[in-house]
Amino acid sequence: MNNNWWLKLQERIWGLSPWDARQISDEWFRAHFDYAADVVNQWVGGTVDIRTARLLNFGCGDGITDLSLVLRYGATAIHGVDIRKEYAKLPRIAREQLGMRRIPAALTFETITPGARLADRHGGMDGIMSWSTFEHVQRDQLLPILQDLHACLRPGGVFFLQIEPLFHSPYGSHLRRYDEVPWHHLLVTEEVLWNTIEAHEGPINAEEVDFGFADFGVEGYKRFVFKEYQQLNRLTADELVDLVRQAGFSVEKQERRSVEMAPPPELLSRYSDEILRNNEIFLLLRKGA
Ligand SMILES: C[S@@+](CC[C@H](N)C(=O)[O-])C[C@H]1O[C@@H](n2cnc3c(N)ncnc32)[C@H](O)[C@@H]1O
Repeated sequence: MNNNWWLKLQERIWGLSPWDARQISDEWFRAHFDYAADVVNQWVGGTVDIRTARLLNFGCGDGITDLSLVLRYGATAIHGVDIRKEYAKLPRIAREQLGMRRIPAALTFETITPGARLADRHGGMDGIMSWSTFEHVQRDQLLPILQDLHACLRPGGVFFLQIEPLFHSPYGSHLRRYDEVPWHHLLVTEEVLWNTIEAHEGPINAEEVDFGFADFGVEGYKRFVFKEYQQLNRLTADELVDLVRQAGFSVEKQERRSVEMAPPPELLSRYSDEILRNNEIFLLLRKGA
């Protein structure tokens, strides 16, 4: 946000705006403010000092996780980048959910074009994080973007990357809010899948309703999430690990989570059991010193 100098001045005069987590009423907000921020802090905070680190959030979305890292874990410099501008809603969201009058000056945001080079302007970062974003990046841009993020880090800097759900897992379509049939996207045609989404009526899981929902309306949101589904890059965990290594990172730590569900036999002739059940990956990557 380019009014950051104004926020800084206000914060210097009045201090950080008071906030109260007891006001949280939105489940999407809670999932990011509590869970996502806790996980990022656990992975990143274990290797760099969050309170002094310069951090970059690649695919920051509405910035709720970044806000939480500042308020709950003392982060002092987080720059969020995204191809959409959902973060512009953060001042309103923070007012409604936390009673905050101003978002902290520690947060800055930027809209980028897909694949835009960041390293020239954002070098020397101590840490980068990316939450549920890399499955949305166009396949041919994956390696150049990872190489660029590698160049954004200082030697020894870390990159925490999380993806959930992975494409081949039961709800890897990201359409579960409309369709509870596991692996449905791998079993039926796109037309059948869209008909299922279109026919859905009634409320959807509040944890999966982001703050963009109000912009689209009920039917528009269905079209939006279906288009997002069609654009997923279908990465597997192995492909991702291979790409991050090609980009120059070393894998310091990784965790893969899998569902305890039996995939349909017809899928097991096309994909391995491991790929079909692996729904989440966490990677802690490091740039060599
Ligand atoms: C599922 S959302 C996750 C947002 C946020 N990390 C969160 O946890 O709410 C995926 C985000 O990735 C962003 N995105 C997709 N492709 C991108 C790209 N090439 N560069 C930067 N952001 C991208 C989207 O605009 C979207 O905000």
